[in-house]
Amino acid sequence: MKTGMKQHSLITEKATAKAVPDNAYRLVKTDDLTEEACRRAFDTRWIGRYLEIWDSIDSTNKRVRQLGEENADAGALIIAKSQTAGKGRRGRSWEAPADSALLFSLLLRPLCHPERVSMVTLVTALAVSAALDEAVGIQTQIKWPNDIVHDKKKLCGILTEMSMQGEQICYVAVGIGINVTMDQFPEELSDKATSLYLDTGKIFDRSKILALTLKHFEEYYALFEETEDLTRLKDEYESRLAGKDSQVVLIENDEKRCGICRGITDMGALRVEYADGSIEEVISGEVSVRGIYGYI
Ligand code: BTN
Repeated sequence: MKTGMKQHSLITEKATAKAVPDNAYRLVKTDDLTEEACRRAFDTRWIGRYLEIWDSIDSTNKRVRQLGEENADAGALIIAKSQTAGKGRRGRSWEAPADSALLFSLLLRPLCHPERVSMVTLVTALAVSAALDEAVGIQTQIKWPNDIVHDKKKLCGILTEMSMQGEQICYVAVGIGINVTMDQFPEELSDKATSLYLDTGKIFDRSKILALTLKHFEEYYALFEETEDLTRLKDEYESRLAGKDSQVVLIENDEKRCGICRGITDMGALRVEYADGSIEEVISGEVSVRGIYGYI
């Protein structure tokens, strides 16, 4: 375990006194992301046997990639309280003030064909969405392929990176960033991003959210491994899919196409139905998808 910097978090059942009388909330000072707290909370078979918790690191995904190169076992888990060079999708950066988020990455060594790896991202989204609903008591949705949203704003991002050797997968790094305690976002993000605190007024124990996410991930990933597709996960994914059976706009370069979102295929492509009844199967990463309202 990596240590060096002091850290503590404030765990409170009601983080704000605004809506409740003084005696209705309890403040407990504790560190919710220690190795001890994580080990106590974890209920996994293979994820997290190898664990590093960093007060600060450049990027948990970068660290997992290093471990991947060093032949570490699948399931290695890297957690950070802050990142100095967090990576987002499409080459963007991912920023979160220290201790405001749950930031972690996982090393996988899938045996499937590299073309199927994009589905791991959808499996991860399913696990995060289910874990948040259970731990926090909200109903999150998935904005295809893998953003977790609540009340039309993004709560969590997932970045999957793959390394190949010849035609085979060497390893996959799955990185997850869940917004937990932020009470505001920069102006340019304020209509697109949210946090668990902003949506509930509560601050949650990150080790518990993490533990549930990993547990669900192991379950869903096992189902993915059985068929190497989403046959056994499609129904649950679609029940969480934001904008299902509603209008979506596909944006590809400068071109926009409108259709109705009809769910996903067994391979994780988005099914979009056009006015003439034809169906397009949109592959992850090809296009950007928007609902007609706002971010989702
Ligand atoms: C996105 O752009 O939506 C994906 C964001 C992924 C961010 C997480 S935070 C933990 C892990 N480490 C990184 O550098 N990125 C991912």
